Amino acid sequence: SVTPILDARGRPLRDLRLSVIDQCNFRCTYCMPRETFGPDYPFLPADQRMSLDQMFTLAKAFAELGVGKIRLTGGEPLLRRGIESLVERLAGLRTLDGRPMEIALTTNGTLLAEKARALRDAGLTRVTVSLDALDDALFRRMAGTQVPVARVLEGIAAASAAGLAPVKVNTVVERGANEGQIVPLVRFFKGTGVTLRFIEYMDVGGADAWSSSKVVTAREVHDRVASEFALTPMDGDRDGATAILVRHADGGGEVGFIASVSQPFCGDCSRARVSSDGQLFTCLFATQGLDLRPWLESGGDGGGDSGGDAEGLQSVIRGHWSRRGDRYSELRSARSARPAGSKAYPVVRMSLVGG
Ligand code: GTP
Ligand code: 5AD
Ligand code: SF4
Ligand code: SF4
Repeated sequence: SVTPILDARGRPLRDLRLSVIDQCNFRCTYCMPRETFGPDYPFLPADQRMSLDQMFTLAKAFAELGVGKIRLTGGEPLLRRGIESLVERLAGLRTLDGRPMEIALTTNGTLLAEKARALRDAGLTRVTVSLDALDDALFRRMAGTQVPVARVLEGIAAASAAGLAPVKVNTVVERGANEGQIVPLVRFFKGTGVTLRFIEYMDVGGADAWSSSKVVTAREVHDRVASEFALTPMDGDRDGATAILVRHADGGGEVGFIASVSQPFCGDCSRARVSSDGQLFTCLFATQGLDLRPWLESGGDGGGDSGGDAEGLQSVIRGHWSRRGDRYSELRSARSARPAGSKAYPVVRMSLVGG
């Protein structure tokens, strides 16, 4: 059936963000601070992760429910073994209206130089790379890594060269840390075909040091950029509902601002997230997921995508989505009476639901 499924606030289900692994080779201060995510941190054991077969079965169910775009996330998704073969299978899916499924990936870029070509050949459509600074020392400090920034830049270049264009770069801006990198980053990517997007620092699960005083608003970032470069607004300026886009007036490309704190976009949020252990989350700030694994287990030794209960899976997702009322970011900004700068309530960690 081609009836779109709508949640309790009338929002359709359009995007699936599928986390393939909850581990990462970085320790970004705003996502997986080392103090919390140390050597003893209880990451998901490998045997609790969905198999590639199960992930494919799951994606197929979402496609049949009207999803047109699947974004693979982590942790760091390129750490998951077999990711290329998963991409290949997902790229064979069709949307309800018969178009090829869009397959995107969000990565920290460290393994991209070596994998970009294979991912492209497997059918990956687009890639988004996280990068917070060009200055090597600052980059390493924010990302909690010894990997040089040059390696990530090589990854971005390799992705563009492989035809994964236009590559997007995400920069989380943290007051007192990387505001000084805003203009250099814009200058670096201007004219390269890469779309740079600045993200407001969010109080996601794992952002233990978050406070509202560290948020640099999209308005403020925009004004810094506009003081150095001539920009023109773009009509239909909301890119997949997350970024507000502007364009270099001289044709040097686009810059985006993701104002998830100061201008929440819950009103048309059409994203479902599934963690690598098969929990469905209907908000980045959910406290609890719905376990989909019971519908993914293959009864007996059937295996493959014929295992599990495809109809049951679709109906449980449909039912859960229809009851969805999430709008955390809108509520967060409505609760200005809270103790200054604190989080609204404890939420699932970002590295489990994939950002
Ligand atoms: P494209 O527009 O297709 O590139 O995808 P995207 O912008 O949805 O994906 P990406 O992973 O690049 O998201 C960028 C960042 O925006 C995320 O890492 C989050 O920080 C933020 N973001 C994306 N979706 C949501 C959302 O539903 N809620 C909130 N609060 N933030 C989001
Ligand atoms: N605030 C905003 N964005 C964040 N990301 C991770 N943690 C945060 C946070 N606290 C971003 C990463 C990456 C994407 C998946 O999520 O930079 O681009
Ligand atoms: Fe890893 Fe991305 Fe989180 Fe950084 S933001 S720690 S790269 S998952
Ligand atoms: Fe969607 Fe939740 Fe983000 Fe709002 S806070 S945009 S409902 S994921």
